[in-house]
Amino acid sequence: MTALAQHPFTLLPNPRFEPGEPYGAHRSTLLSAAALEQASAVITSWPGYAVTPLCSLSGLARSAGVASLHYKDEGSRFGLGSFKALGGAYAVARLLCRELGQRLGRSVSHAQLQSEPALRQACADITVTCATDGNHGRSVAWGAQMLGCRCVIYIHATVSEGRKEAIARYGAQVVRTSGNYDEAVQQADRDARAKGWFVISDTSYPGYMDIPRDVMQGYQLMVHEAVSALPQWPTHVFVQAGVGGFAAAVCAYFWERDSAQRPVLVVVEPERADCLLQSARAGAVVAVKGDLDTLMAGLACGEVSLLAWDFLATGANAFCTIPDPAAVDAMRLLANPDGANPVIVAGESAVAGLAAALLTAQDPAARTALGLGPDSRVLLFGSEGDTDPALYQQLVGRSAAQVLQDGAAA
Ligand SMILES: Cc1ncc(COP(=O)(O)O)c(C=O)c1O
Repeated sequence: MTALAQHPFTLLPNPRFEPGEPYGAHRSTLLSAAALEQASAVITSWPGYAVTPLCSLSGLARSAGVASLHYKDEGSRFGLGSFKALGGAYAVARLLCRELGQRLGRSVSHAQLQSEPALRQACADITVTCATDGNHGRSVAWGAQMLGCRCVIYIHATVSEGRKEAIARYGAQVVRTSGNYDEAVQQADRDARAKGWFVISDTSYPGYMDIPRDVMQGYQLMVHEAVSALPQWPTHVFVQAGVGGFAAAVCAYFWERDSAQRPVLVVVEPERADCLLQSARAGAVVAVKGDLDTLMAGLACGEVSLLAWDFLATGANAFCTIPDPAAVDAMRLLANPDGANPVIVAGESAVAGLAAALLTAQDPAARTALGLGPDSRVLLFGSEGDTDPALYQQLVGRSAAQVLQDGAAA
């Protein structure tokens, strides 16, 4: 089985995409090769750092009628299960350096933070916090534990016990709020103000830009690893989005490196949480209301990160939405050994880009709109493994361990 069943999808070519637009000084202050080099020096020094695999899905590429499909598998990132390990933890590191630097009246480097006992002790007086539905909070908690500061993570009523335990495992105090995600955000913010804590959020809004910028700088290491391992520069990139920080980090990387050779960038969202597509349609950021109900929990966001919009508003070529069953089918495709594709354990949010690539490649009009053809080299980011193991088993029919065992035996 090497094709995805048909599912309805929406493809919106970005009416404001500007092919000749320079990357520009403003964007360079946010995401740049220099900032990535700094992030890379810090993140690669952490225990357990390893480049995540870039898998060639040659069977799927053949059935999609493209030259190649490469899938960057983030499931093993720092043992946390998702690419988010790069962003939240890096933002915690940057915050601690900034804050201690201010308190001490001198610059504090990440290396000093780790090597000077007095600095480590000072970290213990600092508390970081955020609201999360899973992956980001896990990253913040892990970073806080590694760097020795305190951490309080807010989760909303429906976050699974498994996800809660995965955060608590890193020493964070986990607070379950009674309402939805937005209410958890508000409580984190209220408590942070009252108690002098620092909010480490992955989304930006007016007056809150530095920390989400640091998060995105951390994400860029994943893009750099992928490009370094690719045999050739990609022609197309399909990247899934929640608030858009991840997609913007990818967009910025290619735009800054080689503005003239930018791959076609398609931003992919769940059909019921399509704040980026709706913003592109409206020509300005708009929020999506409703329950944002989707299995793709990491992408269930109703509001765009303003910083991300600085890149995606004119830098994305197209916006695409997919229904949940397409993601489930893509998870199953990756879980089934067929000789031409490696077996990959991919979570619900990980496969949105893959699902959109396969759906658009199978559709003549979408294929033409995106310029997909037999020479296309498609890059995908598998942003998580089975970060909710019980849900993975329910959707795929086997646990991650069984899937890998079956794959090894095939
Ligand atoms: C697995 C996974 N993929 C993609 C995303 C999307 O990232 P962003 O919210 O920065 O768009 C998330 C966000 O939580 C995620 O958890």
